[in-house]
Amino acid sequence: MGVESEKLIPDLEKLPRIINHGDPISLPGDPLEKAIDLGRPELEGSIAAAVDLGVKERIGTANVEIRLSNLDQDATRIAELFRQSSVIEHLAGIAPTWQTAELNVKRYAEKYPDYHIVLGSEEGIKDLYKDYSGTIDSDSVLLVAEDKKSKRIAGTITIVKPMGRGMTHAMVTGHAVDKNQRQKGIGTLLLETAHALIFLPKEMNGFELPGAEAGIILGLEGNSHTFKIYKKEGYLKKEFQPKYCVSWDNKQRRFVERDTRRLLLSSDSFWKRHKATQLLTFLPRE
Ligand SMILES: CC(C)(COP(=O)(O)OP(=O)(O)OC[C@H]1O[C@@H](n2cnc3c(N)ncnc32)[C@H](O)[C@@H]1OP(=O)(O)O)[C@@H](O)C(=O)NCCC(=O)NCCS
Repeated sequence: MGVESEKLIPDLEKLPRIINHGDPISLPGDPLEKAIDLGRPELEGSIAAAVDLGVKERIGTANVEIRLSNLDQDATRIAELFRQSSVIEHLAGIAPTWQTAELNVKRYAEKYPDYHIVLGSEEGIKDLYKDYSGTIDSDSVLLVAEDKKSKRIAGTITIVKPMGRGMTHAMVTGHAVDKNQRQKGIGTLLLETAHALIFLPKEMNGFELPGAEAGIILGLEGNSHTFKIYKKEGYLKKEFQPKYCVSWDNKQRRFVERDTRRLLLSSDSFWKRHKATQLLTFLPRE
């Protein structure tokens, strides 16, 4: 399989650790050839990977770096992101922080403890990610896309390692990009970084898992491009899962039961589209 042959890659230390999404490189023509022409062969992997992903047009506009989150510093901003009205409905179990006479999230959370509702607040985010230690060794790994200049977080994604006895697939969840930063390729880059970690062999700092899955909450505005992004990455639509979770409803101002669609990406299908050398450039900064 592709991975096996990639294990023969020479000197890994010489490969770039992250993609320079904001580098002011103008690359008309074939970007890969151009990188070599420019005498910057170290960019070869990054650019080829970007071309693979079809994000080259937007690469200059998304001046972000993907890194592991440091919750102490990031939790407040992540909470803000998760609370955005165009995000909150898509993420199961995240509650708004405001409260009215009719809405008492605490009461709801107490009534349904198994739903593990968390507030979209700094404390709520810290609670949600209590299994995350800030390293890739945690049971769940939280990645953020950080604007290189302002250092503001533009988006997040979470990898939950296989949970439960005998489970083999990682779950990709908590995928969100700030409403003002969309359509610049950040969502795709976050997903690709998650995949680099999930699928790369262990000796390349990956988890070497046989598959990834995600769940899309159905019936929500914005779903068509989410499906598009995941499909482009090779995910296949699997089961319809009735009443699989609860998420906030902006109009009704309450939690509602939601149907979801399970999406699955197998490592076989993933390695047909990717090369480990290219993926190395996507590993997050620690
Ligand atoms: C889904 C989400 C993370 C995508 O982030 P993003 O940074 O906009 O994604 P990208 O820029 O990489 O866009 C990927 C594709 O979707 C398309 N797309 C994104 N937003 C779009 C929109 N509003 N209308 C039409 N197309 C859109 C892009 O054009 C792009 O397609 P292309 O590669 O063919 O050009 C973001 O829309 C979001 O946070 N949504 C709310 C939360 C959510 O739904 N999360 C997913 C839960 S499973």
